[in-house]
Amino acid sequence: MKRKTSTRPSNAAPKGLEIRRTQSTDAAAIARVFEGPQVIRGTLQLPYPSVEAWQQRLGRETDASLVSLVACDGEDVVGTLGLHLNPGMPRRQHVAELGMAVRDDWQGRGVGTALLKAALELADGWMQLRRLQLTVFVDNAPAVRLYRKFGFEVEGTLRELAYRDGRYVDGFLMARLRPAQT
Ligand SMILES: CC(C)(COP(=O)(O)OP(=O)(O)OC[C@H]1O[C@@H](n2cnc3c(N)ncnc32)[C@H](O)[C@@H]1OP(=O)(O)O)[C@@H](O)C(=O)NCCC(=O)NCCS
Repeated sequence: MKRKTSTRPSNAAPKGLEIRRTQSTDAAAIARVFEGPQVIRGTLQLPYPSVEAWQQRLGRETDASLVSLVACDGEDVVGTLGLHLNPGMPRRQHVAELGMAVRDDWQGRGVGTALLKAALELADGWMQLRRLQLTVFVDNAPAVRLYRKFGFEVEGTLRELAYRDGRYVDGFLMARLRPAQT
């Protein structure tokens, strides 16, 4: 898909965009985000997302294993980011796994940057998370660029990480350690 060019500064959020905590009533809008061909291609989700499955996933907020944010243009949910925590694992309290997606028609406009910036402020400043990690397909240039911009580094290549549109695709394991306190 051709991405829109923009003159916005690299870290500026699109005008009017709000980042807020996900609510249980957002499940249908999040399922719509995951209907987009680019989002299906870039993530580990199956085509034809189920609203019920998203309702269940968002339910993990109640057992403290998920912190989920959404990016909204007015009432419209245009992107989402989840921090998956390890509440039952005392020695992994400092680690979270990150996943995110921006609706196909909003990609390349700064929404991912705004979501990730908000998540890192939360993780660094309020949650005592030290290590954030994720997997990303090796050919997902916008995502790799976004993560590098915020200090994530490639730690390794995961061969045949997942099956995508009829073939196995490698992924990078990327992680970021919280910067030292100044
Ligand atoms: C990856 C994703 C979350 C990024 O969100 P976004 O809102 O599109 O990203 P932004 O507009 O904030 O741009 C992020 C960076 O990617 C760069 N970028 C955008 N399109 C690009 C492209 N085609 N090639 C290389 N870099 C690109 C932007 O230039 C920007 O870097 P910059 O600020 O230094 O210029 C989003 O594109 C997406 O949801 N993709 C599909 C699902 C997915 O891949 N999720 C991630 C799974 S690991």
